[in-house]
Amino acid sequence: MSSNHEVNLTTNYLGLKLRSPLVASAGPLCKDIDHIRRMEDAGVSAIVLHSLFEEQIEMESEDLDRSLEAGSQSYAESLTYLPEMGAYNMGPDAYLNHLRKAKEAVTVPVIASLNGNSMGGWIRYARMMEDAGADGLELNVYDLPTDPDFTGAQIEADCINLVKHVVKSVHIPVAVKIGPFFSSIPNMVRRFSDAGAKGVVLFNRFYQPDFDLQTLEVVPDLLLSNSSELLLRLHWTAICYGKVHCDLAITGGVHSAFDVLKSMMAGARVAMMTSVMLRRGIGFVTEIERELKAWMQENEYDSIQQMQGSMSYQSVPNTSAFERGNYMRVLSSYALKSRVM
Ligand SMILES: Cc1cc2nc3c(=O)[nH]c(=O)nc-3n(C[C@H](O)[C@H](O)[C@H](O)COP(=O)(O)O)c2cc1C
Repeated sequence: MSSNHEVNLTTNYLGLKLRSPLVASAGPLCKDIDHIRRMEDAGVSAIVLHSLFEEQIEMESEDLDRSLEAGSQSYAESLTYLPEMGAYNMGPDAYLNHLRKAKEAVTVPVIASLNGNSMGGWIRYARMMEDAGADGLELNVYDLPTDPDFTGAQIEADCINLVKHVVKSVHIPVAVKIGPFFSSIPNMVRRFSDAGAKGVVLFNRFYQPDFDLQTLEVVPDLLLSNSSELLLRLHWTAICYGKVHCDLAITGGVHSAFDVLKSMMAGARVAMMTSVMLRRGIGFVTEIERELKAWMQENEYDSIQQMQGSMSYQSVPNTSAFERGNYMRVLSSYALKSRVM
């Protein structure tokens, strides 16, 4: 094989054939049609739009007006915690218009993202997104439990139930974007898959606000990721690969061609990016694709599909024993440096 042979970057995700595994994850760049066009020009093979949050929908809805007028104090109070999101997100009509415009502007698939708050809301807006032309739907189930009476089993059952209902309500493929804090990630991924999800996106980042000691206020602190965050995703993707029917996508810490290669070898169908584009510009995606091809040529890979799952745990017969062994090896591999003694 010559070192500059043609390599095939195509991958399949949610039943969509993509020209490469480089996908734009939900984020601020997807809010602007010009940025969306530029992402396609730079080589991004699919675009996940930023999330529509149900609270914004509710704020616009008559139901809410009515409940506020009726003096629904706790709900009214909870709304005071919601930020002025006009600068980041849009209400439902503007979101659906944006989705339509995005579909007109690019030829790559456009996946809409929804963060609901009630079953009715998830289903209603999922359908509207489908009608507006979305090629797929990503359910962003970012919801941190704060009530000690609410058990892990209840949270899991709610999430699965939600996916089942949304999947039944639309014809487009549905992916679920989850955080890393379920007790058993492989069990949850399998149950999402059994509930009809065509993909699971690992993982949303947990945004941890900081305390301002001057003002004694809780302040939002959104730091962009770096490649070290990829390791958690690689680990769980490699464990889940081959044990579930749905596609796996990695989001979080993809910053280079190496990160994309590792994601593929762990078993992901696509490697999603936001932070790297925010930090280095949309054009950097072209550079990542160029390096991806060059590495594959140098290392005699013909296609992305050939490497997907090659470093997964699929061929490890006793994954738990393997994990324990690795854990012990990692702990004992740490060499103490004399200067700290
Ligand atoms: C400013 C910003 C806004 C984001 N908005 C959304 C969103 O609306 N919906 C969502 O599911 N993820 C959102 N994300 C998360 C990203 O899609 C992505 O999962 C996360 O940043 C990890 O990927 P990265 O390491 O490539 O940044 C946002 C991330 C950033 C940095």
